Amino acid sequence: MNITVCFDKLDPAPWVKALQLALPEARVSAWSPGATQADLAIVWAPPQQFIDEQPALQALFNIGAGVDALLKLRLPAGLQVVRLDDAGMSVQMAEYVCHAVIRHFREFDAYDDNAKAGQWSYRKPRNRADFAVGVMGLGVLGERVAKALQVFEFPVNGYSRSPKQIDGVRCFAGQAQLGEFLQASRILVNLMPLTPETEDILCRATLSQLPRGGYLVNVARGRHLVDEDLIALLDEGHLGGATLDVFRTEPLPAGHPFWQHPKITVTPHTSARTLREESVAQMVGKIHALQRGEPIRGVVDPQRGY
Ligand SMILES: NC(=O)c1ccc[n+]([C@@H]2O[C@H](COP(=O)([O-])OP(=O)(O)OC[C@H]3O[C@@H](n4cnc5c(N)ncnc54)[C@H](OP(=O)(O)O)[C@@H]3O)[C@@H](O)[C@H]2O)c1
Repeated sequence: MNITVCFDKLDPAPWVKALQLALPEARVSAWSPGATQADLAIVWAPPQQFIDEQPALQALFNIGAGVDALLKLRLPAGLQVVRLDDAGMSVQMAEYVCHAVIRHFREFDAYDDNAKAGQWSYRKPRNRADFAVGVMGLGVLGERVAKALQVFEFPVNGYSRSPKQIDGVRCFAGQAQLGEFLQASRILVNLMPLTPETEDILCRATLSQLPRGGYLVNVARGRHLVDEDLIALLDEGHLGGATLDVFRTEPLPAGHPFWQHPKITVTPHTSARTLREESVAQMVGKIHALQRGEPIRGVVDPQRGY
């Protein structure tokens, strides 16, 4: 079995080494133009040239959960695309989102400002019941985030494409229930995949349905959010703030208004990082399952876009 590794802006060498160690029977190498034909590929945002030059591939393993960049390529019909599912990402996402929600709810930014000014100053405790969190996308990451938020006794709402039942989570599904979901959620956490249906979904029409003082946590993709609409809603006072981990252009360009906005916290796409050891273990397990002809989790439906 030949396995090729093709990454955009990421050194393939440690991945080649780890995969080779875990799959001694295979021949693992980093792709370069003109390389020999491989049976399987491990990829992150590969160029179209890679796909065109590798017609013998049976499956592409993406080293992330989101496959939006991959599905923009012309892929041969029948080529299986497999995403990472969890592989150490969901606990990171849960801690990032809980941190952002708690920091906002407990007003830790204001306490920081007070401390910097040498002020010992109490703030009135807020009512948790007024801070329902709406998790948009109840997949591998969204469900874990919803469960983590419940530990802190926030009311939790969830939104997905198909109806879901999760203990203690008020679940909404489909376009018809989007308005009701937004109106019931003071803090909105976006964990949907980027697809033609979800692109630009965080815009004035949706964000203005959050209650006054609403807060946005975007940890999915930058192209979900219409930047100007968020800034306008913050400046008009409808929204109280936002924590943003993902951006339309990454790195976020110098001079972008998000950097300096007093109500926006920016992090550099770091909420849930791909962990090499966990990812290699998961992919190797799936490769063995495929060899035995068994079904695997995380196969992407190209029609659905995730
Ligand atoms: N910032 C980071 O570091 C980072 C790291 C990893 C992933 N991500 C992002 O997080 C996203 C989610 O990951 P995941 O593993 O949780 O994905 P997933 O398991 O595929 O779950 C996606 C969820 O979104 C829902 N959804 C999809 N399209 C929808 C629509 N049009 N309307 C309503 N709901 C819709 C799905 O509904 P159904 O359940 O009905 O299918 C599902 O619940 C990834 O696609 C990626 O973009 C970001």
